Amino acid sequence: MALNYISAAEAASLIKHGYNIGLSGFTPAGTAKAVTAELAKIAEAEHTAGRPFQVGIFTGASTGDSCDGVLSRAKAIRYRAPYTTNTDFRKAVNNGEIAYNDIHLSQMAQELRYGFMGKVDVAIIEACEVTEDGKIYLTAAGGIAPTVCRLAERIIVELNAAHSKAAMGLHDVYEPLDPPCRREIPIYKPSDRIGSTYIKVDPKKIVGVVETNWPDEARSFAASDPLTDRIGRNVADFLAADMKRGIIPSTFLPLQSGVGNIANAVLSALGHDKTIPPFEMYTEVIQNSVIGLIREGRIKFGSACSLTVTNDCLQGIYDDMDFFRDKLVLRPSEISNSPEVVRRLGIISINTAIEADIYGNVNSTHIGGTRMMNGIGGSGDFTRNAYISIFTCPSVAKEGRISAIVPMVSHHDHSEHDVNVIVTEQGVADLRGKSPKERAQAIIEHCVHPDYKNILWDYLKLTDGKSQTPHAIQAALGMHAELAKSGDMRNTDWSLYA
Ligand code: COA
Repeated sequence: MALNYISAAEAASLIKHGYNIGLSGFTPAGTAKAVTAELAKIAEAEHTAGRPFQVGIFTGASTGDSCDGVLSRAKAIRYRAPYTTNTDFRKAVNNGEIAYNDIHLSQMAQELRYGFMGKVDVAIIEACEVTEDGKIYLTAAGGIAPTVCRLAERIIVELNAAHSKAAMGLHDVYEPLDPPCRREIPIYKPSDRIGSTYIKVDPKKIVGVVETNWPDEARSFAASDPLTDRIGRNVADFLAADMKRGIIPSTFLPLQSGVGNIANAVLSALGHDKTIPPFEMYTEVIQNSVIGLIREGRIKFGSACSLTVTNDCLQGIYDDMDFFRDKLVLRPSEISNSPEVVRRLGIISINTAIEADIYGNVNSTHIGGTRMMNGIGGSGDFTRNAYISIFTCPSVAKEGRISAIVPMVSHHDHSEHDVNVIVTEQGVADLRGKSPKERAQAIIEHCVHPDYKNILWDYLKLTDGKSQTPHAIQAALGMHAELAKSGDMRNTDWSLYA
């Protein structure tokens, strides 16, 4: 069946007010761009004409400005799931303009299949190749593309020439059956391939192919600095010591690492620590640092959901595909983040916290307990199931006015039952095998900034000191209350609560 080539504007006109659209991509990598940019123009025109125009958006994770950015500014998003990093989207969410469902990334595809979020009217899928018999070859990410292609009534393909056809073969497309028929996901090592290199759809569902040449909108991260380097060094030293003690096998274990400057610094420190053997990644996002370490032979294999790398780095991978073909695989997010596979492979997870409390509970998502930052992403998928789960963060934020370690987190994403290790530039708190009271001692002693140590020791004096998890409930958010009052947690005065 011949493919129907149409413009991005024509494709966008197929999307009506009230539709739910399912997008390819995971982070800005591999996300459809041209049709959503045109959709924002339609929404603006409809609003000017006094008519409502809003859609629901289902994605793998964050997108680029040509999706979440333009659509939020056009007030065209009614509902969205899951993770996002866009500043305008964040403002709209915290203004109450968008219903945002921040679920674990591994759950997104299955919750769509289970029917929890309504139907997928149109899928918009970025591809490097599409064939007349309905084979869609994805670009730099897996995300939820296989599921939205299957569920959607209609599919629009953005055939993006900015992605080389060398991407064909990078993907391992696999969709599990749903309960009660689900079987194990047969991945026993990060490099196992279990699916096909393309998504196969009924060609009749492909209502249009939009040709584009639009590079991914991935951010480049700031260079590492002494603080992130210290955090990275602390993580590397901790893991090297665990390996020496035999807690981690001498062959090492696959790593998951979050996104951002700290993640880059951690990987760089691990990559350059020669006491750690070359290792593998089973992770959701591959950043530039991983590609560098694969080239150096320090990372043997990278399994991920996306190549969230700068465009020159991505081009370098495409140009060098003969080298990378047996060293990289991209998977759908429910496979890259599968709790089953994470537990089986014994992943060491390393993610970033906004704040942690003295008992090891972690807030990854909310500022001040109420305002959304980005979302939980895959941090919960990995943390809960990891061999060792690690959280990193600087010990203070906003020039020292905020302590990252507080008596009680103001929002709860990862519980004390799941968090094994907390690392700041001050040091490492190993929480494994410890009771809550022992954890509090370790965290205050090793992770807290000197400006806040006495404040937290004094907090403990307000408690009975005996119960399983000692708290002075009336004072537990006292440091947050002080921040709201004076703008500086260092002014906390516990006598107000005594
Ligand atoms: N209270 C208030 N504000 C805080 C804070 C705290 N305890 N800690 C940090 N902040 C502020 C920072 O000052 C910064 O503010 P700015 O935007 O005005 O500069 C902002 O929050 C982000 O902090 P930063 O240190 O730049 O964050 P980051 O880029 O390292 O990201 C997370 C940290 C937690 C937001 C990010 O890792 C994330 O979204 N994590 C959840 C998802 C996840 O873990 N995914 C991993 C699986 S891949």
